[in-house]
Amino acid sequence: MTMHDGAAPITTGASQGHGAAITPSADPGRRMLDACFLGPYAENDGMLERLVVEFLRDHVYWRRNFHPEDPPAIPTHAAQHPEYQAFEARLRRELHQLSAALKKSVPFHSPRYMGHMVSDLLIPGLAAQMLTLPYNPNNVSEDAAPVTVDMEVQVGLQLARMLGYPDDPARADCAFGHLTSGGTLANVQALRLALALKAFPVALRAANVPDIALPDDDWAAFNLGHDGGIALLEAWTEWLAAQDHPTRRLWRDRVQAQRLEQLGLVEFHARHPTLRAPRVLAPVTAHYSWSKGLKLLGLGRDQLQLLPERGMRLDAAALEDALDTCARTCQPVLMVVAVLGTTEYGTVDPVDAVVDARDRWRPRGLGFDVHVDAAWGGYLATLFRNADGSLRTRDEVGTGFQRFPQPAVHAAFAALSRTDSVTVDPHKLGYLPYGAGAFVTRDHRPMALLAEAADYVFHAATADDYLARYRQLGQFVPEGSKSGAAAAAVYVTHKVLPLDHAHFGLLPRQTVLAAEAFDERAARFARAVADVLHVRVPFAPDSNLVCLALNPVGNTDPARANAFVRALHDELRSDPRQPLQLKQFFGSVTTLRAEAMGPRAMQDILDSIGMVPARRVAGASSTLDHDDRDAGRLVILRHTLMNPYLIDRENGISYIDLYFDHLEQRVRERLSGRRP
Ligand SMILES: Cc1ncc(COP(=O)(O)O)c(C=O)c1O
Repeated sequence: MTMHDGAAPITTGASQGHGAAITPSADPGRRMLDACFLGPYAENDGMLERLVVEFLRDHVYWRRNFHPEDPPAIPTHAAQHPEYQAFEARLRRELHQLSAALKKSVPFHSPRYMGHMVSDLLIPGLAAQMLTLPYNPNNVSEDAAPVTVDMEVQVGLQLARMLGYPDDPARADCAFGHLTSGGTLANVQALRLALALKAFPVALRAANVPDIALPDDDWAAFNLGHDGGIALLEAWTEWLAAQDHPTRRLWRDRVQAQRLEQLGLVEFHARHPTLRAPRVLAPVTAHYSWSKGLKLLGLGRDQLQLLPERGMRLDAAALEDALDTCARTCQPVLMVVAVLGTTEYGTVDPVDAVVDARDRWRPRGLGFDVHVDAAWGGYLATLFRNADGSLRTRDEVGTGFQRFPQPAVHAAFAALSRTDSVTVDPHKLGYLPYGAGAFVTRDHRPMALLAEAADYVFHAATADDYLARYRQLGQFVPEGSKSGAAAAAVYVTHKVLPLDHAHFGLLPRQTVLAAEAFDERAARFARAVADVLHVRVPFAPDSNLVCLALNPVGNTDPARANAFVRALHDELRSDPRQPLQLKQFFGSVTTLRAEAMGPRAMQDILDSIGMVPARRVAGASSTLDHDDRDAGRLVILRHTLMNPYLIDRENGISYIDLYFDHLEQRVRERLSGRRP
C-alpha cells in the first residue's frame, strides 16, 4: 500500500502495466529548455563547442591587442624544441589519464541519475565560466576583478528580487547578497552577521555612547531583534557622522573596543555576565553545516537546539514551546532557522509561522533573526514570481500541477520576503558548476559590522554608494580570494534565464512535474508488488525529492527491512570498481528516525509497511545481521528528481517508469532468492 500523511490509503491491486502514455509536451517554453543543457546525449555539443572556441579566440585577440607593439615573448619556433615537445608530451599524457579516469565519474547529466542534489549544467553558466577562466578575475575587490565583482553584486540583487527582498540599491534598506563556496559557508555568514548585529547594541551600551536612546540593560540590548538592531545602528551611524573628525575617531574606537568581534566570546560574556551564549533553534532535519557553523564561531555545538518535526516539517508548536522556555530562563536566541527544501526529504518548513513567531516574541523581549536555509529549494521561488517581481497566487503557481504547491508551501514561499536572510545555492537547483553558494540579507546595512578593513586592498571601505562599497567584497565575506568566473557564470545564467516563472521557473517546473509523476508511479508500483512488498511514500513531496519506505511482506524485523533497502541501494550507488554502464539507475538512501519524526508519526509509517508493534524500530533487537548505523532508524530510498529529461517526451520514454520496472525486477529477484 502507498499513502501519504493524512491521505486515504490507495488500495493495492494488480499492476496496471507501465506508465501512462507520454504525449509530446505542450508545456510553454519546453522547446527553449532543449537549448539550456549540454544534454543527456550531449545533443548540444555543437553549441557548446562553438561558444568555447569563439570566446577562447576572443580572449586570444584581447591579449594580442593589449600592446600589439610588444613582440611575442615565446618564439614561433619554440614548439620545435625537444624540451617544449617533451613538456607537451607529458602534459598530453597526464591529460589523457585524467580524461580516462574521469570516465568513472558519476553520470549526473543522465535522467537515470536520481541520487543527490546535482544534475546537468546549464550551458549559459558553463560557457560563461569557461569564457571567464583565462581572465582569472579575483572577486576579492574591484582591483582584481573590475568586471566580475559588479556581476557578483548584481547576482545578490537578482536573488534578492527572487526572494521578494528590496532590490533597488537606491533604497537605504536594499538587500545585499554575495556568493560563497557553497551553502555551508553561506550559513556561516548568516550566523556571523546575526551575531554581529545582536551584540552591537550591547557594545554601544558598554561604551556609554551619548545622545542616543540606548536599551535599559544588557538583556534588552541583546534582544532588540534584527530591525531594532538596524535602527540603533542607523542612529549611531548618523550621530557619528555629525561629529567632528577627532570626536568621531574617539567614539568609533571606544565602541570598537567593546564589540564582540574585538573582545572575543569569552571576554564579551565575562563583561556581560547576565548574558548567556545565544542559541540557534533549527529543525532536526537541518543540514550538518549548522553544527559546523556553531563550532566555527566558537559558540559550540551545545548552542544548536534541534526542534522536532511534524510530518518532516518544523513543528511550529514545538518552536513556540522552545521560545517560551528560552524567554522564561533568560536564554538568548540568535536565530531560528527554517529549511526550504530539506536535504533528506525536500520538505518545506512553515517559514510563515517562524516569522510570525519572531514578530510575536520581539515585543515580549525575546529578539532573534529568522534565517531560511534554502540551499536546496531556493530556486523553486522562481515558480512563485512574475517578471515584475510580484508574487503569484497559489492558483497561478499551481496551473498544470496536480497538487503543487500545497497551501502551506505557498505560504512558506510567500513569507520569504519577511525573513532576515536566506541561503540559496546556484550550484544545486541553479544547475551551475560547484563553487557557487549564496548568502542574501534582506537589509544590507548590518553588513558594515562585518567589514574588515585592510587598507592595502580596499580604497572605498566607507563608500556611501552601494555598488562602490560592495566592490570591496573581500571586506565583508568570509573568504579572501574568490572566483570571479563563478560570479560570471551565475550572472549570465540569471540574465539568460531571469528568475521568474516564465524563464528560470521552467526548470523547477519540470522537476516538480517529475516528482508528481514519480509519486503517482510509486502508487502503481506499490500495487504491482503488493504480493511481496509493502511500499509507502512516507510523506507527500513538497517539492522534487521523493522517498520510498519498503518492507518485504511478512517481515517484522526492522534490521531485515533496513538490510533489504541497503542491498537495493548497493545496486543504485556509484561504484568506481565497476564499469559505469552496468548501472541501470542511481539513487540514494536516507533514514527515518523516531526522534526526528516523533514516535507516533514513525509508528504510523512502520504500521503502514507491516511492521507489527512487537518489533518496533526504536530499540528493536534482531537476530539477523544488524548494522549498528541503523539502530532506531528506518532506511529508505531517496530520489532527487532534478534532471529535466526524466520524462523524455521526444522519444516517449519515462525514465521514472523504467526505474520502477527495474526496481520491481530487483525486488522480485531478491525476495525469490535469485539474488543474494
Ligand atoms: C539545506 C542545505 N543546507 C546547506 C547545505 C550545504 O551546502 P554545500 O554542500 O553547498 O556547502 C546543503 C547541502 O546539501 C543543504 O541541503
